[in-house]
Amino acid sequence: MEIPFLNKFSLGNGLALFKKESGVLGIDFGSANLKIVQLKKGKTRPILETYGEIATGPYAQMPVGKSVRLVDTKAVEMISDLLGEARAKSREASVSIPLRSSFVKIITLPLISEKEITEAIPYEVRKHIPVPLDEVIINWWILPQGEFSKNQGEEGFIKEHKSQEVLLAAIHRDLVQKYQNIFKGAEIGVKSFEIEIFGNARSALNPSLHPSLIIDLGAQTSRYTVIDYGLVRLAHTLDSGSADLTDSISKSLGVDFVRAERLKQDIGFSQRPENKEIRSVIEPVLEYILSEGVRVSSEYGERSGRKINKVCLIGGGALLGGVVEFAINKFGLEVERALPFNKVEHPAFLEDNLKQIGPVFATALGAAMRALEE
Ligand SMILES: Nc1ncnc2c1ncn2[C@@H]1O[C@H](COP(=O)(O)OP(=O)(O)OP(=O)(O)O)[C@@H](O)[C@H]1O
Ligand SMILES: [Mg+2]
Repeated sequence: MEIPFLNKFSLGNGLALFKKESGVLGIDFGSANLKIVQLKKGKTRPILETYGEIATGPYAQMPVGKSVRLVDTKAVEMISDLLGEARAKSREASVSIPLRSSFVKIITLPLISEKEITEAIPYEVRKHIPVPLDEVIINWWILPQGEFSKNQGEEGFIKEHKSQEVLLAAIHRDLVQKYQNIFKGAEIGVKSFEIEIFGNARSALNPSLHPSLIIDLGAQTSRYTVIDYGLVRLAHTLDSGSADLTDSISKSLGVDFVRAERLKQDIGFSQRPENKEIRSVIEPVLEYILSEGVRVSSEYGERSGRKINKVCLIGGGALLGGVVEFAINKFGLEVERALPFNKVEHPAFLEDNLKQIGPVFATALGAAMRALEE
């Protein structure tokens, strides 16, 4: 079947055609695009078997690039279409859960034992998570204390904190149930669910003891995650994303969404004089989205005394021409587009393509890496 709205760069057809597959899937159910990555175990690194992306919009009679909520039957149809087109044979997956449907909080507790933390968690959840306890699935981890857990004492001596930080993560049971029904319909066994920011950290960053900020420039929302000493330390969602750039172009220039999306992708944040109009429309939205990243970095700096030293961009919005340069100016730091496919073995002929589209697949790839670990 011909599926016209599959993105042109989406398929690893050449990869998957002749291989006997034994891999696992990572699935990222974005609001504008569904992404999958299939990996199998390799000797030193995971091996990429196939990957693919499909726009959700057309499954709800909306244009490509629009964020939509699909009815379950359409979601099943879309997953099946994508698996077919990508020739993904695996039916075992790790599925990423959007941060906007989750709660991630760092809480500070006294230096109590793990057993006592377990007892304290329900009270903490009630305090920090605005949803009844029985409606969420909760997970928590003690955050190992890095150097920042020590305080500068009055005489300048370093002294230990009397508290510890715990990362609290909660997912709505309803959402998990909904996903379970959809994946059952698509005949996929879900090995695990994971909030997307954890997969992003796995795929987008190399091991480092320094604090980095990952910004996921999705269509509907932007997500900011601070990773320090290799672990999630702060997470935040902003209800503004890359589709807002398209909406702004559409309104300001009086063109429809499809045309505005084309202009955005073709021209981007261009410094050329003839593109001044598009630039002036995009700039305030981008400014707003990145300012939130600056705010999150400062918040983390104040809490930990540690300065973010690198910003890593993922999500489709990271493909916008000129966004890296804009972000370098804004943050005054090293900024890069993620290269998540560097974490997996892949054929040399795909190198350029995978480099270009890497940021889009960071979440799905992170989920697939998780599925391999299980
Ligand atoms: N080359 C490009 N230039 C600019 N923007 C692009 C480009 N390619 C994709 N985008 C934008 O990326 C966005 C889609 O990104 P992505 O697939 O990460 O979103 P999503 O995961 O579906 O959304 P969300 O994470 O908010 O649920 C769209 O707004 C699209 O316009
Ligand atoms: Mg996304």
